[in-house]
Amino acid sequence: MKNISDIKKGHDHNPLLFPKGFVWGTATSAHQVEGGNTNNDWCSWEQVKGHIANGDVSGSSTNHYELFDKDFDLAKKFGSNAHRLSIEWARLEPEEGKWDENEIEHYRKVFKALKKRRIKIMLTLNHFTLPMWVALKGGWTNKKNVARYQRFVERVIREYGNDIEWWITINEPVVYVTMSYIMGAWPPGKKSFLKAFKSFINLIRAHRSAYKTIHRVIGKNAKVGLANNIISLMSYGTDSWIDYAYVRIIDYIWNHAVYVFTKGYHDFLGVNYYFHQRIERKKGAWSNILVDVRHEKRERSDMGWEIYPHGIFEAVGHLKRYNLPIYITENGIAALNDDKRLRFIVGHLKELYHAIQSGIDIRGYFYWSLLDNFEWDKGFYPRFGIIGVDYATMKRAPRKSAYMFAEIAKRNGIEHKHLTYLGHKVGSHTEHVG
Ligand code: BGC
Repeated sequence: MKNISDIKKGHDHNPLLFPKGFVWGTATSAHQVEGGNTNNDWCSWEQVKGHIANGDVSGSSTNHYELFDKDFDLAKKFGSNAHRLSIEWARLEPEEGKWDENEIEHYRKVFKALKKRRIKIMLTLNHFTLPMWVALKGGWTNKKNVARYQRFVERVIREYGNDIEWWITINEPVVYVTMSYIMGAWPPGKKSFLKAFKSFINLIRAHRSAYKTIHRVIGKNAKVGLANNIISLMSYGTDSWIDYAYVRIIDYIWNHAVYVFTKGYHDFLGVNYYFHQRIERKKGAWSNILVDVRHEKRERSDMGWEIYPHGIFEAVGHLKRYNLPIYITENGIAALNDDKRLRFIVGHLKELYHAIQSGIDIRGYFYWSLLDNFEWDKGFYPRFGIIGVDYATMKRAPRKSAYMFAEIAKRNGIEHKHLTYLGHKVGSHTEHVG
């Protein structure tokens, strides 16, 4: 305990330290950074006018497919002791049952490159894209594709199993189903509750079968999870029980249903946190209940998403009930103005620090993303990277946030100088309380 005279002396500069062995990394996905993915459902979707903002196509993207060595040098230099990436099914198995040995070798080199730098690997087996031939057979709406996915997973394990530290079976099943089968904004662009439901169930089956397969081949120490997009939710300034019911229902469907259906099939929970939603039901209106915060003049990302660091604290708090280790598998901001990113990263990490202090078992943090990249239907305008990419020259330019991320990761904690991005002033506080 501090005594009062210590407090009067002012600010103590103790860093907010994370637990020993905390994992620091960045994340990417194959289709978003590799370039040259011509054989999956996204590639053909991108060709249609109106599907992607500004008429962008993923094309060569950041050319990470060829530049991965350089990119991993940057990941290492800027503090990552782990990296999350995905493997492109369409490359490995371009036609049903035909395996491309060159592509298999390519990913072997990618994983070796990470291992050489002592960067641990978190591998996503499915990050939104499907091989064209799988999409033509109904994608995730077709139960038979679950067995095909399992065969692919088995091949990946046999090829690279020993190199992988953590497995993510599926990225954001609920986001996928919503965008592809409810909003119709992602391939195959359908709006059908029945198809949404079928694909959700098959994604659950896919997760379970991958979980079992990985454990069967690698053994009981395998670490398998999925990356779930968690929204922090609140009702907006009313005490209405109906609004409260809305919050609970959305919370169940969006945040928890996946866990209910996959109970017993997780070694850890992967959390992607981006969204905070305020909910308000206008009198007589039963839909359109999400509050648009523009009029509140809140700080938002370049994509209009509200920046709400405390939401990550709430998100992990609600997962305590599952009693499993948690990794933040994605958290990031699209911002050309890097000052926003500095505030964003420190703000979210500080909340995670407090969550850990409150007893939540958080083991690691992966910032989205290492590089600027192809942001699905939004194309290339959103800039998520701590490393900027000039798409004309493929030059990489580390942003200030990359240097800050490196300092925090290497120190394994947030120092007072980082808190100045949140408005802390040197020497102006009475006590440093984090
Ligand atoms: C996805 C990423 C995406 C990011 C930013 C996550 O939902 O997994 O692929 O780029 O959010 O929108």
